[in-house]
Amino acid sequence: MRAHEAGAMHAEVGSRGPAWLRTPGDVNALLPQLWPRSVTRGPDGVLAVGGRGVHDLAAEFGTPVYVLDEADFRARCREFAEGFGEAELFYAGKAFICKAVVRMLAEEGLSLDVCSGGELAVALAAGMPPDRIGLHGNNKSVDELRRALDAGVGRIVLDSFQEIDRLTTLARERGVQPRVMVRVTVGVEAHTHEYIATAHEDQKFGFSLAGGAARAAVERVLADGVLELRGLHSHIGSQIFDTDAFEVAAKRVLGLQAAIRDAHGTELPELDLGGGFGIAYTSQDDPRTPAELADGLRRIVKEDCDALGLAVPRLSFEPGRAIVGPAVFTLYEVGTVKDVDGIRTYVSVDGGMSDNIRTALYDASYSATLAGRASEAPPILARVVGKHCESGDVVVKDEFLPADVQPGDLLAVPGTGAYCRSMASNYNHVPRPPVIAVRDGVARVIVRRETEADLLALDVG
Ligand code: LLP
Repeated sequence: MRAHEAGAMHAEVGSRGPAWLRTPGDVNALLPQLWPRSVTRGPDGVLAVGGRGVHDLAAEFGTPVYVLDEADFRARCREFAEGFGEAELFYAGKAFICKAVVRMLAEEGLSLDVCSGGELAVALAAGMPPDRIGLHGNNKSVDELRRALDAGVGRIVLDSFQEIDRLTTLARERGVQPRVMVRVTVGVEAHTHEYIATAHEDQKFGFSLAGGAARAAVERVLADGVLELRGLHSHIGSQIFDTDAFEVAAKRVLGLQAAIRDAHGTELPELDLGGGFGIAYTSQDDPRTPAELADGLRRIVKEDCDALGLAVPRLSFEPGRAIVGPAVFTLYEVGTVKDVDGIRTYVSVDGGMSDNIRTALYDASYSATLAGRASEAPPILARVVGKHCESGDVVVKDEFLPADVQPGDLLAVPGTGAYCRSMASNYNHVPRPPVIAVRDGVARVIVRRETEADLLALDVG
């Protein structure tokens, strides 16, 4: 008998999984908030996306494969654009970037935040208008700054005094006046994983508000007059569900805005409150809609501005995960199923920490479902693991799967659009999976599968 089979072993099941996963649900059900919107399960139990069944997709493109529901991705872009109204939305390319996605963003009217020369190269190659590109980074190289200036990017978010000096020199040499923002570290620690919270004081990003560096940076830029200071920027973390932390951040950053006005008679015309909006990875997550987020954030800024006697600046935001995360699932094939007696069942898939490092790195929670057939077998609590030589190579820590899960089954993991392909590695020389976009019954490769020949081509010894 499988470890943790429902029924006789039910108490055992409960003792292994997290508290919220104590009761096995219907293993054939799809929770709508976890899946791209075009995903359905047919009467035969087979998942389809954009009108294409997963067996077809696996046969045509192989596994593992990241599957982007293009209509869903575009709809999320539009919902953010409409919900946030006048605000400019810079999709955070670090979540996932490739040329096809950049073209979709451009068509849907979004702007793009890049944080390296590589991301800038993709943006430009895809034809994103340079004035809709913003450049971030705590250690932009002189070469990256030069390329950004030569391309004519819309804004550069300053992150250090050295960068202010470098950019000022480059701009003087070229006789240009690039638009910049000053990234302010507001001392807010959002409720999220420690490694991905970016606004508490003890970290590498931005200029400290409390320590006075933020104000000093603003004053240096204003005094030089070479760079055009458009506004202040604050990003407080990632996978955040409520607006409380944004409220504190906005209050602090607008306090600086008012202090600058009082000292220099200048009201900076723009304000960026970053990204970080959370998505559902499991049944426990309950994210806000873009319209709800936008209403909350607009109200917060308006109230603070009224209290400080400031005009409401033009707002911008940088959502990445909330746009692309839910629009993608990863399709794997099961290779082995191992019952470790009395402990748990390990279901090994043909990818792992090389295509999704988030579980190992952040202890992130994911969900999974049997994608290629229905099953009436009782649920077992399983751990979905990869094929890498590392015991921490876990994709889904705990999930109920049917007890008859077996080699050759297709398994789908939702919510893998953000920070999975973009953080993928070649650990164990496992080539990185392709990304396919599916829409109206048509599937196309937008990032091709890496091959062993690609890997060997880098190995010039
Ligand atoms: N803007 C700035 C300045 C950022 O640093 C980030 C993310 C974003 C926007 C977009 O945040 P989002 O809306 O995607 O949460 N690798 C981690 C997340 C790191 C986020 C880094 N910065 C993860 O997998 O959870």
